Parts: sequence; structure tokens; C-alpha cells
Amino acid sequence: MELVKTYAQEISTAIEGKLTVTEVSELIEQPKHRNQGDLAFPCFVLAKKLKKSPLVIAASVALKINHAHFENVIAEGPYINGFLNRAVVSKNVLLSILALQDGYGSNNEGTGKTITLDLSSPNIAKPFSMGHLRSTVIGNAMANIAEKCGYETIRINHLGDWGTQFGKLITAYQLWGSEEKVKQAPIQELLSLYVRFHEEVEANPELNDEARLWFKKLEGHDERAELLWKWFRDESLQEFDKIYQLLGISFDSVNGEAFYNDKMDEVVAMLEQKNLLVKSGGADVVLLDEYGLPPLLIRKSDGGTLYGTRDLAAALYRQRNYQFEKSFYVVGQEQSLHFKQVFLVLKKLGFNWAHGMEHVPFGFILKDGKKMSTRKGKVVLLEQVIKEAVDMAENNIAERNPQLQEKEDIAQMVGIGAIMFHDLKNDRLNNVEFSLSDMLKFEGNTGPYVQYTHARACSILKKSTVKVNPETFKGLEDAYSWGVVKALMAFPDVIERSFQQSEPSHLAKYLLNLSQEFNSFYSHVKVLADDAEQQDRLALVMSVAITLKEGLRLLGLRAPERM
Ligand code: ARG
Repeated sequence: MELVKTYAQEISTAIEGKLTVTEVSELIEQPKHRNQGDLAFPCFVLAKKLKKSPLVIAASVALKINHAHFENVIAEGPYINGFLNRAVVSKNVLLSILALQDGYGSNNEGTGKTITLDLSSPNIAKPFSMGHLRSTVIGNAMANIAEKCGYETIRINHLGDWGTQFGKLITAYQLWGSEEKVKQAPIQELLSLYVRFHEEVEANPELNDEARLWFKKLEGHDERAELLWKWFRDESLQEFDKIYQLLGISFDSVNGEAFYNDKMDEVVAMLEQKNLLVKSGGADVVLLDEYGLPPLLIRKSDGGTLYGTRDLAAALYRQRNYQFEKSFYVVGQEQSLHFKQVFLVLKKLGFNWAHGMEHVPFGFILKDGKKMSTRKGKVVLLEQVIKEAVDMAENNIAERNPQLQEKEDIAQMVGIGAIMFHDLKNDRLNNVEFSLSDMLKFEGNTGPYVQYTHARACSILKKSTVKVNPETFKGLEDAYSWGVVKALMAFPDVIERSFQQSEPSHLAKYLLNLSQEFNSFYSHVKVLADDAEQQDRLALVMSVAITLKEGLRLLGLRAPERM
């Protein structure tokens, strides 16, 4: 069903291999107007090679092509326009989707290879921010898409569970904290302790010394310090787990920064051995001047280690444990420099596998055009946002479909799906404006719209009493069905592109487009009319349901059959 490839093959043969099949494929376009056919090849590049004008070349090549999948191949100016044989192609497409079911769109590019994905990675004792939500949702979608491409995936939650802030937190807790409050609303209470510390330290700078002392104790395995740290960590994790459960996302590893406490000496020793460590203002750093970058800090003057040192140790650990082919870090764009530095230092250490490492950055989530910030304690708690989205979804559903059973379950799928889809439909690097009412619209570029289209397809199938028999398929030729078939056909390619460019938004946009094509088909064509093509149309509806459901699954959304 790789029609572009088929077309490219035909053209490459017709021009006696002057361009390879791949070269031709890369030049093939989708014509803008439907009357220009389904695939077009511009002949400009051939003019030099064949020493003829593109118009002459187009005219002669068009005549040579004769393939069952093409009804017509016509030269139009310098273009060779191919018109697919709708009956043959639509029949093939539908047969293959029905045969493959949810396996449709898979490929085996990654068979036998492993990818680690560093995703989510929120910070203990702080709220789960919108940035962490984006990392979680984009990272999870990327992992699903990688699996669809045959890769084995390891989802790693690199928790921010270490650092001098724990000294401050312990100090604040000892002074003003209450066990009860932490148990009741851990994140809120820990955050307010942290905020209070920063307020009080202004008038009372010696608090800083105390915090430093507590952090030293923590590093030295002091019993009380460790106990508190562990407790804060457990309470925070339980809160984060609620969010992961709502999102339906789980991890293969939650080894956070603290896990690498005893694994950094080795990295430092390696750096020393390769003479890469340089003293700079009392600290040890690795210089990256030759790349025009500032140095990566490895060890502070007091011997303390840093974020970057942990990432070096983590990379080494992951390579040893998982032998990854690729290692993705789904982290906001503000950390681009950090990852550039980490990857370069690994390369300087001579690790060839570092070439498989990639930072997958993304933009901010904005509220009224401004960055949503957790500083100063003014923060939207994600759990509340999710609850609100689910409530809104429930209202929408109750209005549209008051008789619906399992309303709550479905509202959950729709409300949460809306948030996730909103995060995924924009190019990763764009900033996105956070608006609950926009993301929940049933009409518009939203998750609920795609889910609703899927439910509509399911309900048509439920109404039908006809048993679909692929042997009787005739193929579909009308323009509306053909629009849907062409959209269905593009799915495997979209999966590949989404993976190669680490851009789940391609898939999200694709699902919107498939939904539009299907809804336009549905409003113009009577699916259940009792005529010769009824079987084909039902197969088309099934194929749409299969593809939408699988596409949504890859993005992390569920697809209710009613809504
Ligand atoms: N906890 C960090 C933050 O919130 C993100 C960690 C990303 N992963 C990593 N391996 N550095 O900024």
C-alpha cells in the first residue's frame, strides 16, 4: 500500500534510473487541487540530466506509466499527475486495515533495539507543574509511538529528589511544620514551608547556615535528616501517583537524582583519568570552549556534586543496564544548554553510545499569555485542574446525551483526554495557552472531537445488521469515501514521521484530519443504504474506528464507544 513508492518505482523505471526510487519518492507531492490527481512528480530536476525541457519530459514519461493502481497518469505542464484507481486502492486499503486491526500502522524499524525515555521527572516537595505535565504527556506518547515502530522502551521518571533545598525544607519543618498538615496535603504544606523559609531568611540570614548544616547531615546519612527526607519523598510520590493514575501512565523506573549519590565518584574518576577536570574558581569543571559553550560544573568547591554530574552518572547507568540505542530526554527547552553540555562531556569521555542521546525539548504552557510559575506559592494544582476538566466534560456530556450510562467514566476519559490532546496537538516547541473551555469543545481541534468521531463510527456499526464479508468488496469511488480512504492510507507514514521527528503533534493533527474527512463523509453519504457498496462503506467505518482508536491510544487517550 505504499503508493508513493509504487509511483516512484514506475517513474524511476520510465526514466531509466536517472533518479533512484528514493530520490523520486522524496520529490513526489500531494497536489493541492483534487482535479490534479493524487500524486504529482515535478520534472524540473530531470531537465539537466536529460537535457530536455521539463514539459517535454513530463509528456513522454506520463505515457510510459501503466500500473493497476493508477487509473490515469497525465502530464500537466512540468508535472506528472497520477490518478489512483479508487476502486482498486480503496479495496486494498480497507482489506489491509481489517486484517491488521490495531496492528495497522506498525513498522519494525526498531525491532531488537531499546530506547530509554526520561520523562515527567517532577521535583519532590513541589507541585507537579504544567511543564512536568507536558513532559509526561509528550514523553508517554513518544514511548507509545516508539513501541509502534518496534522498539522496546524504558520509561524513566528521573525524580528531583536531591539537592540543597532539602536542607531548607528540613530546617523549615523543624521550626514551623506540623506532621498532621504534611499528611493532609503534603505538596501544599511542603511548598508553603519552603516559601516561608525564603521569606524568613531575608530577616534572618543565619537560617541559611542551618539549612546548609542539615543538608550536610543528610549527605552524611544522619538518621533524623534521612528520615524526614524519605518521608517528604514518600508523601510527594503518593501525590504524584494520583496524577499518573488519572493520566493512565506508568514508569519502568523511578530512580531519581538521589539514586546516583553513590554512582558519581566513578564518573569523576573517569573525568580525572582523562584529564578533563579543570579547576575554576574553586570548583571542578569540564571545559567546552571548543564548542563555544560554557563549562559543565562537576563538583562544587565544598565537594558537593551537581545536577550535571548526576546526569552523567545516570547516562552511564542506563547504558549499562539497558544498552540503549537511543536515549531521549523529554524536558523543557530551558534546559537545552544543560543537555548539550552533558552529551558533549560523554562524547569527550569517548562513549560512542552518546550519539544516540537526544534532548526532546518543548515550549511553555501559558495562562493569559504568561508563563505559569510555581514560585511564590501561587500555583495551579494539577489535580484540581484535572478535576475541573472532568466536571466540565460531564456537564457537556449530560447536555448532549442525557440518557448516557457510565457518564462518570466517560467524563473521566474525555476530560483527561482533552488536557492531554491539547498538549500534543501543537508543535512541541510552541508555547501553548491553557484554556479548559477551548480544549473541551466537542467541535474544534480537540481530543473530545476525535473521541466523539470515534464514538459516532462505533454507533453506526452498532446500528447495522449486515455482516461484513471482505470477499464481496467492490471498492469505493465517490469523492467523500475517497477522502476518507486517502486519510486512512496516510496513517503508517504519519507514525513514522512522528517518531523520526519526535513530534507526536503530527499524529494528533492527523487524527483531527481523519475525523474531519469522516464527518464530511458521514454528512454526505448514507452509510447504511442497502446498495452494492454498503459492505465497503461499513468496512470504511470500521477502518476509521480502528485507526482513530489506535491513534488515540498512542497519544495516551482512551476512546469511549459512546459519549
Ligand atoms: N527535575 C528536573 C526539573 O524539574 C527535570 C529532570 C529532567 N531529567 C534529567 N535527567 N535531567 O527541572
